[in-house]
Amino acid sequence: MKKVLIFLILVNSLQVLYFKGYGQDAGRFFKPGNLIETGVYYYPEAWDSSEWDRDLKNMAGMGFEFIHVAEFAWAFLEPQEGTYDFAWLDHVVDKAAKHGLKVIMCSPSACPPAWLTTTYPEVLVVREDGIRASHGTRVHGSWSSAKFKLYVEKIDAEMARHYGKDKRIWGWQIDNEPSHYGTVDYNPEARSRFIEWLKKKYTTIEALNKAWGTAFWSGVYNNFDQIVLPNYKMLISGFASPHSFMDFKRFCADECASYVSLQYNTLREYITKDQFVTTNFMHDHRDVDAWRNADLDFISYTMYPVAGYTEGLGDQGFRMGDPWRISYANDFFRPLKGVTGVMELQPGQVNWGSYNPQPYPGVIRAWLWNAYAGGLSFICSYRFREPLFGSEQYHNGMVGTDGVTPLSGGREYSQFMKEIKELRTKYNPDAIIPKDYIERKTAILYNIDNFWNTEMQKQTYQWNFEKHITKLYGDLKSLSVPVDFISENKDLSGYRVVIAPAYQLIDQSLVAKWKQYVENGGNLVLTCRTGQKDRDGHLFETQWAEPIYDLIGGKIDMYDLLPNDRSAKVKMGTNEYQWNIWGDILEPNTGTETWAAYSDQFYAGKGAVTYRKLGKGSVTYIGVETNDSKLEKEVLKKVYSLAGLTTKELPEGVIVHWRDGFWIAMNYSSVDATIDVPDKAKIIIGSKILKPAEVIVWTE
Ligand code: GAL
Repeated sequence: MKKVLIFLILVNSLQVLYFKGYGQDAGRFFKPGNLIETGVYYYPEAWDSSEWDRDLKNMAGMGFEFIHVAEFAWAFLEPQEGTYDFAWLDHVVDKAAKHGLKVIMCSPSACPPAWLTTTYPEVLVVREDGIRASHGTRVHGSWSSAKFKLYVEKIDAEMARHYGKDKRIWGWQIDNEPSHYGTVDYNPEARSRFIEWLKKKYTTIEALNKAWGTAFWSGVYNNFDQIVLPNYKMLISGFASPHSFMDFKRFCADECASYVSLQYNTLREYITKDQFVTTNFMHDHRDVDAWRNADLDFISYTMYPVAGYTEGLGDQGFRMGDPWRISYANDFFRPLKGVTGVMELQPGQVNWGSYNPQPYPGVIRAWLWNAYAGGLSFICSYRFREPLFGSEQYHNGMVGTDGVTPLSGGREYSQFMKEIKELRTKYNPDAIIPKDYIERKTAILYNIDNFWNTEMQKQTYQWNFEKHITKLYGDLKSLSVPVDFISENKDLSGYRVVIAPAYQLIDQSLVAKWKQYVENGGNLVLTCRTGQKDRDGHLFETQWAEPIYDLIGGKIDMYDLLPNDRSAKVKMGTNEYQWNIWGDILEPNTGTETWAAYSDQFYAGKGAVTYRKLGKGSVTYIGVETNDSKLEKEVLKKVYSLAGLTTKELPEGVIVHWRDGFWIAMNYSSVDATIDVPDKAKIIIGSKILKPAEVIVWTE
């Protein structure tokens, strides 16, 4: 009996360890044969309860398979401190089930109720100008406030106790777009937690002084208590220690991650292992770091391709969005756990852009296909009904202001869901991914430190880390290359090509890892700004970026930057390209080839792109960032070709993916494109002539 007891205790503690903080195998929540499931946000608290049944029935009728509720409903779930009311939500869950809709339940932490923020104002975020946030906004609870976290834990635990064993609940979303939307929190508790974070990292004040370079401008600290939160508002003449700002960024990202983890662990305490727990990070927001939440079952993302911030391609591109945007997010969020979904996908016209155009007819369906093609397990749209009041008036839903008439987005969602249901009948679980396609799968290494560090010291107003990467990513997509974004700590050996763009912060062990990867047959591509600094952000006391010289087989003599109204030239073969963003000027060793050289300025003839063989592999250094990335694309093509890998040149704006035995292509350009579909192929949807925003699906 005693042995059985010990065994049970062991099994139990192993389970707790497994589910608390470690996530689960995310694949188990999604049936491969379903291909992708589509759902929609619903805010029942904002509508008359007499309309709930009708709305849910209409959702199911349009083809939706799940709903997403309670995200901002804290004030309705806990109307008074300690008084909980789930009756109304039970009613919605009952009705959803009646109409065959699964439920994603949300923790409502993004919207603390008025009773909480007025009774305990210390729970509020303090802005960098010292002003405390107040009721009447959202995400204004401080992740550093012990009291705020206590109340979040309480409501989460109550909800998890209530819904955690309910089979109608498919999974959970924590918070909403965890971030303070660009606001940095200067709550006094953030300061004390930052000091504790620093003590843990540096142990002694001497070590901190060294890492922060406080010998510059007499920044020396005598002890940890003197440390204040780095704040752009307090600066008179620039910052003495960029290193302190780096640490503060890391701390803030850690605070966000630990706030999400706290909620994950609270929910997991009560809910069954059959319900998943995720959260929805913004696809392009870099104040927080989605990858720090590897403890979730998986991470999902939010996506609004058309909101006045993109030109896209050609005359109508502004209505379609950047061709790479959805694919990039798929490839960024999926590799962490092998599973992801888009939790919010734009439903139609939005209200918060610099201007809010109508999306191009058909493009919402193309986005949906793009999400499926990129390996997502689910798609959810924000939101079912167009709001009649509140700050998101003028924001489309699936249905319009009358609550029942489908808008163009709603109609396109319905079409997609119908098509997916049809595709499910053709699914072949034994389909094999084409060899040449999978062999060229490429990893892009990503460490958010490089984003923060290069952006903090841009050196040119033209520097844009995200653009630098997305230009390369766009080149890869236009060559039909599948991509995974991965952390530098991951095993690289599964990828024949690895790209480390603008990898400014390095250490010896990373360089050794890269070298080993190449010697074993890998093809490494590095781009400008790589290898300049150590992990503290200090320049090396060597020649410029010398720690990578041995690897790249050459020297980086200097770098140059130009104004955006001047263009300099760089030549590869007989082709000349324009650049003015960044140029590393390279001096290759004997045995290293110069693939491209500057052809004007006082360093004409010096290297811009070099290539060398090393062991069984190769290292390419692309020192220049051209304006249209055409040179970079030619370089990449040559790298693949020399490595014995095929690429496929696609028409501009066309994205092609293979998934589940299907080839899927969509056209983001403003002109028709012809898709190269083999004669023997069977076209399931669309045709070879792909009009703007059109989709084709075929099997071979
Ligand atoms: C998202 C946000 C949603 C909603 C939406 C409007 O970024 O997560 O709650 O505000 O934007 O487009």
